[in-house]
Amino acid sequence: MDNNAIDNLREALKFSPNNIPLKLHLAESLLNLNRLAEAETEYKEVLALQDNPLARYGLAQTYFKQGQYATCSVILEDSLRSDPDNINFLILYSKTLLKENLHAQAVENYKKVLEMIPGYKDEELDAELRIGMIPQQQIVEEEPHHALFTKPKINFGDVGGMDKIKKEIELKIIHPLTHADLYKAYGKKTGGGILLYGPPGCGKTFIAKATAGQINANFISVGLNDILDMWIGNSEKNLHEMFETARRNKPCVLFFDEIDALGASRSDMKNSGSRHLINQFLQELDGIDSDNDGILVLGATNAPWHLDTAFRRPGRFDRIIFIPPPDDEAREAIFKLKLNGKPVGNINYNKLAKLTADYSGADIEAIIDIAIEDKLEASFKSGIPEPIEEKDLANAVKKHNASTKEWFVSAKNFALYANESGLYNDVLSYLKIKK
Ligand SMILES: Nc1ncnc2c1ncn2[C@@H]1O[C@H](COP(=O)(O)OP(=O)(O)OP(=O)(O)O)[C@@H](O)[C@H]1O
Ligand SMILES: [Mg+2]
Repeated sequence: MDNNAIDNLREALKFSPNNIPLKLHLAESLLNLNRLAEAETEYKEVLALQDNPLARYGLAQTYFKQGQYATCSVILEDSLRSDPDNINFLILYSKTLLKENLHAQAVENYKKVLEMIPGYKDEELDAELRIGMIPQQQIVEEEPHHALFTKPKINFGDVGGMDKIKKEIELKIIHPLTHADLYKAYGKKTGGGILLYGPPGCGKTFIAKATAGQINANFISVGLNDILDMWIGNSEKNLHEMFETARRNKPCVLFFDEIDALGASRSDMKNSGSRHLINQFLQELDGIDSDNDGILVLGATNAPWHLDTAFRRPGRFDRIIFIPPPDDEAREAIFKLKLNGKPVGNINYNKLAKLTADYSGADIEAIIDIAIEDKLEASFKSGIPEPIEEKDLANAVKKHNASTKEWFVSAKNFALYANESGLYNDVLSYLKIKK
């Protein structure tokens, strides 16, 4: 189809302006030629005449191609409500979610397609979600590949602030490990895990790692990609192997990152495949057939509201901890920790902390990085490493925006309207909203 053909189509439509198949054909041709504004108009005109799924899909595609992902999401979410098994909608929706950096949700939607059509392949999604890189056959035969099996060198001393959280981790999972006899003497039950949730970059993964370092334990990190592999490959067996590896390597912190990808609570996810995986996970966690002494289970998520409630029962993730953005004191500590060992001038850390309200630990790292890059350039000229000064960091702050605010937009809604048993009270307190 070329631009000439478009003119002919338009000509034909003059005689039959409400001919829907013809209009759709024109719209699709425009879309393929990347004449997006015109395609948008045609699709909208079709939709004004008739609620047509092809037109909805086409319109969503034009928005996607124009980078208008939010609008695209709205159309797709709406369409999926009435047509939840539509592969086209699901695939485009996954891609849109990826563009919006909502990985876990993208995975969830892609999983639905894979469940319906085992072996389905979308190259772009496979590449982004790193599924296609491992042939299915191999997943089944291979030992589960632990993305990360380490002995972390960092400990609580490397984590700025978070005193309350450190204490809670100590009480709930470290002491039962180091003082096992005392707990036994009182007949106090141990086990279960801690779920960390909060905005990105505020230290969930970091403190999980530091927990392992704190007690000189091994650390196994099960990430999104491992969960995906479980999903496509021989899932339950792989999950069991992860726990078994932890059991063979005690003491061990077994950390599930982005755990909502494993146990999404959406009612439309309650189909067989995902149910099996969740059940297997809960069984491992309960330690029914095996001994979990010496294993510390931690989970992290940005979206705890997507997690199946079964995860929160006693003996499972029965402590749910909010990891807020670092407060003044914590930001000061993080600045000091991250600049430690680097050439610095005279720095008023308290002032920097004041400048960086709403900034996460990851943001502070980025700021320091920017300051260093600027400094490097100056040092190339003089030939000596010039010290980083307060004003360099203050300048860098201006170049990097705080990244935690966005998260609170959705968190606030759940905290206000889905706050079962006060689950999100800490979020409300943080936002200074009365319970
Ligand atoms: N309290 C802190 N003390 C020291 N460093 C921190 C702290 N919080 C965050 N950081 C730094 O920021 C980086 C990002 O933090 P981390 O990966 O733990 O965030 P996260 O909460 O897991 O984010 P996400 O939700 O995106 O996974 C860490 O590698 C760490 O260097
Ligand atoms: Mg993380």
